[in-house]
Amino acid sequence: MQTSSMQGDLADGQPAAGPTAVGHPVQDASSCAGGAAGCGGVLAPDTAGRVISNDWINRDYKHLVLQADGRAAQAVAGQFFHLLCPVTADDSPFFRRPMSTYRADPATGRVEFLYKVTGAGTRGLATLVPNDTLPMLGPLGVGFSLPPGARNIVVLGRGVGLATLAPLSDLAAAAGVGVTAILSARDAENLMSQTRFSGTGATVIEVTDEALTSSVDKVEALLRELHKAGKADAFYTCGSQRLTALMQRLGNELGVPGEVAMEQQMACGIGMCYCCVRAFREGDHLVSKRVCWDGPVFPLAEVT
Ligand SMILES: Cc1cc2nc3c(=O)[nH]c(=O)nc-3n(C[C@H](O)[C@H](O)[C@H](O)COP(=O)(O)OP(=O)(O)OC[C@H]3O[C@@H](n4cnc5c(N)ncnc54)[C@H](O)[C@@H]3O)c2cc1C
Ligand code: FES
Repeated sequence: MQTSSMQGDLADGQPAAGPTAVGHPVQDASSCAGGAAGCGGVLAPDTAGRVISNDWINRDYKHLVLQADGRAAQAVAGQFFHLLCPVTADDSPFFRRPMSTYRADPATGRVEFLYKVTGAGTRGLATLVPNDTLPMLGPLGVGFSLPPGARNIVVLGRGVGLATLAPLSDLAAAAGVGVTAILSARDAENLMSQTRFSGTGATVIEVTDEALTSSVDKVEALLRELHKAGKADAFYTCGSQRLTALMQRLGNELGVPGEVAMEQQMACGIGMCYCCVRAFREGDHLVSKRVCWDGPVFPLAEVT
């Protein structure tokens, strides 16, 4: 496996000073591994993850498990890694690719990703075999939070969004908060993560285009029912603009707070290049924020 030196160089840059928020990977220099980004006290290290397995789970998605001890395995729900995807005979992914943590376990030192093979970067990831190494910068960004006093939350995800939302069920379970997970997909074959959610005690509801159960109005009816039953103290979503808009609208109407994990193409992933800036609403104002640095998780109310 080869890696692109240009991508590696990116990780050696020092990030611009930025706001420090809960979830930002602040650390002291003593814990920086070799090749750390922003070592000197700002960002997380570049860990050389060792591949344990990298298996297809359906036609489009693979599940990558790595041994990645240290800071990497302390990633919290919603944080991501910037992966130095392998260069292959067919592809030379120039930039790193952002990938949410599907699971991170400090006890075993394992970090997992669930990814859709779409382009040069993920095609490269798909070639990894056991004992290959993958440079992974992170954990990065601001993760999910639970509102004080929440007893039950609703998680609504589609596509790669299901990978990003899965660790939220661990966070909720550890806090004694009940989870209803609505998993949406084109068809039954593309539904993923059911056991990942149910294994933490979450109630899983599957909706698909194929079964005509995934339309916005059908999902809205489900959300209203859950709210009426006291199961929706907060909303969480990822992976679909129309579902994000739905949760935002219902959240406003019903007074339910919520968060969304945003997907945005990234270059540096560490707040330096401003390529991931989007407009967010703060009160009456629109403000520009970097998805990699201020997010990727944002309050639903801020999404424009
Ligand atoms: C914080 C974060 C977490 C992510 N977590 C996951 C994850 O857990 N699993 C997963 O499969 N993917 C995830 N993604 C998406 C993944 O990083 C992109 O799909 C990435 O571009 C894949 O690289 P690639 O080289 O294979 O495809 P590319 O060649 O980069 O892209 C393939 C196609 O997707 C389009 N595209 C790329 N990125 C985006 C984007 N952000 N929004 C809309 N269209 C885009 C491109 O224009 C192109 O048409 C995440 C993205 C972010 C920002
Ligand atoms: S990707 Fe460079 S600032 Fe976000």
